[in-house]
Amino acid sequence: MIPATNQRPHATVLFIFGGSGDLNLRKLTPALYNLFIDKYLPESFSVVGIGRSNYTDESFRERLLEGVKDFSRRKDGPWDEFAPQISYLQMDGGDEAAYSKITDFVNTKKEEWGEDPNVLFYLAVAPQLVPGIATNLAKLPLCGDKTHVRIVVEKPFGHDLKTAQELNALLGGLFAEEQIYRIDHYLGKETVQNILALRFANSLFEPIWNRRYVEHIQITAAETVGLEGRGGYYEGSGALRDMIQNHLLQVLCMVATEPPISFEANEVRNKKVDVLNAIRRIQPDQVNNVAVRGQYGPGKVKDKEIPGYREEEGVDPNSATETFAAVKLFVDNWRWENVPFYLRTGKSMPEKTTVITVQFKPAPNYAFSAEATSTWQANRLIISIQPAMDIRLRFQAKRPGQTLAIDPVEMVFSYKTAYDGQEPEAYETLLLDAMTGDATLFMRADQVEAAWKVVTPIIEAWGSETPTDFPNYEPGSWGPQAAIDLIEKDGFEWTTK
Ligand code: BG6
Repeated sequence: MIPATNQRPHATVLFIFGGSGDLNLRKLTPALYNLFIDKYLPESFSVVGIGRSNYTDESFRERLLEGVKDFSRRKDGPWDEFAPQISYLQMDGGDEAAYSKITDFVNTKKEEWGEDPNVLFYLAVAPQLVPGIATNLAKLPLCGDKTHVRIVVEKPFGHDLKTAQELNALLGGLFAEEQIYRIDHYLGKETVQNILALRFANSLFEPIWNRRYVEHIQITAAETVGLEGRGGYYEGSGALRDMIQNHLLQVLCMVATEPPISFEANEVRNKKVDVLNAIRRIQPDQVNNVAVRGQYGPGKVKDKEIPGYREEEGVDPNSATETFAAVKLFVDNWRWENVPFYLRTGKSMPEKTTVITVQFKPAPNYAFSAEATSTWQANRLIISIQPAMDIRLRFQAKRPGQTLAIDPVEMVFSYKTAYDGQEPEAYETLLLDAMTGDATLFMRADQVEAAWKVVTPIIEAWGSETPTDFPNYEPGSWGPQAAIDLIEKDGFEWTTK
């Protein structure tokens, strides 16, 4: 998390494997540029893109500037002051001999700056390349420095529990756990971090944040986009692995966690692992009762014609990959026993929105007439993660007039009106944290595995049975009917409002 004071990290060299790739262009360099503008980057800083493509430092900087112009929250500014800190190293991550270039680069900087820098290796590469690069890196003597050298690994972290365990075992054999930073970019989002502040910096919510007052909780992460050219990756993943195993379960952990005794990284992560471990294991014969999968067909999203998932590039015309998933979970502990948590996510939905809804139990309304309570709604706390960033508390109020009528109204906290609308992007927060050595918002090995354990029964059940009804939802809709039934059979309904 961003430090309370604007204290700059120690001198840093950041190597980005996959330097010429999309993630660097769209997210990492824009994030670094904004950190630079806000004076969060170290005084002595150098970022090195590593890739096989042929760039000079100059042409690489020009390419990254395009990314800044297209994707940075601030497009204008002192690019010319930032750019000299960027270099490019052409090398093949599979070529062990080439890694000496990394040591040479670090040594040059060490001499130039007169101090030992932190060295970060950011692996923004396809998952199959991670083991090879990590193995080669670990052979560099400099990687033995547990305090100053870190490795940042992007998702997907494993394809299932077994592969995640294998990757953890491999990385754990090469680096110390405190050197490994597993990214889940949802944890870097301002509004996600604010869940802990909302819950634990106020005395108002915590007393009612439990099974006695909360009826159910919903987490929706909907996207209007389809595949965006990522067919190759997504085909082997699907909504459950791509969004629920990581982002949505992490958000659930923030909502459900017990109060940590400090915000020290391991304490916060211990509490989150407790939540994951408390999630009731889904029995194989129960999967169809608590999980729904969907795939969009051809149609329209916001008046734009789009092809069905199976017609997208890189997708099998008979694909069984889900582009929508909804699950109902229970957290079996003292606080949450029998409170359902409904999670859903999908591509080609009607709107881009990530929202948490905490629905409280209804108040007894026997004193009011049926007429007075016709629009009655139970209290609800709605936390909008994105794109709207606000928190709304819905409660009942008397409608002005001579009759007693009760309507729901809202108290709203909006980032846009409360602040200047310049919240840092998730990657700014995460990169800065990795530079300062704060692992709170990163996934620990056991956390990743615990999350895989939650979804494993669903993966196994879905893997063993080909869906016969795909495609089963129209793009621009909220997913298949079965997802609506999943919550309605419990007497509730999905909401993002
Ligand atoms: C990524 C998924 O992790 O998160 C993508 O791989 C998804 O499929 C993206 O589109 C959503 O992130 P955000 O920040 O736009 O909600």
